[in-house]
Amino acid sequence: MDDVTIRKYCDEDRGQLAVLWRTVFPNDPPHNEPEYVIDAKRAVDDLIFVAESSGTLYGACMAGYDGHRGWLYALAVLPEYRRKRIGSGLVEYAVRSLKLLGCRKVNLQIRSTNAEVETFYSSLGFRREDRLSMGTLID
Ligand SMILES: CC(C)(COP(=O)(O)OP(=O)(O)OC[C@H]1O[C@@H](n2cnc3c(N)ncnc32)[C@H](O)[C@@H]1OP(=O)(O)O)[C@@H](O)C(=O)NCCC(=O)NCCS
Repeated sequence: MDDVTIRKYCDEDRGQLAVLWRTVFPNDPPHNEPEYVIDAKRAVDDLIFVAESSGTLYGACMAGYDGHRGWLYALAVLPEYRRKRIGSGLVEYAVRSLKLLGCRKVNLQIRSTNAEVETFYSSLGFRREDRLSMGTLID
């Protein structure tokens, strides 16, 4: 899509972004509840990016930078608008934003069953790395 702008999230996007994430990630666990994630993220930094055209959001992603590594999270494009380079635009914008912060390496996690997303990230130069991903929920 030619007329899509990639930009930083602003407060007016909150409702649309929550709907977008619920549409693309309908089975997310309760700790990923969109409004909670948006508000928690905004309390820490402003690294949420959206793809917008004429006031409508078609995609979004988040990034994080801890001073050592950059991370990408929650990349989402509305199903009917995929394969129009919106996802690529979001990732490229997020990576450029991380680079401006001094970040030299960007990581991301993909569910092992998500082969299509691996193909997508491979097309942008990301490569599979031999790591074991671990996590814990904090009560
Ligand atoms: C992954 C996702 C963001 C890609 O967005 P997109 O806007 O469709 O991606 P692009 O149009 O920029 O694709 C760029 C290239 O990636 C590859 N690609 C993208 N989607 C692909 C798919 N489903 N299967 C195979 N290759 C794919 C292609 O090489 C594509 O180039 P082409 O269209 O010229 O062949 C989108 O499919 C999505 O929202 N998926 C569901 C959410 C998700 O799983 N997010 C990631 C986990 S955090």
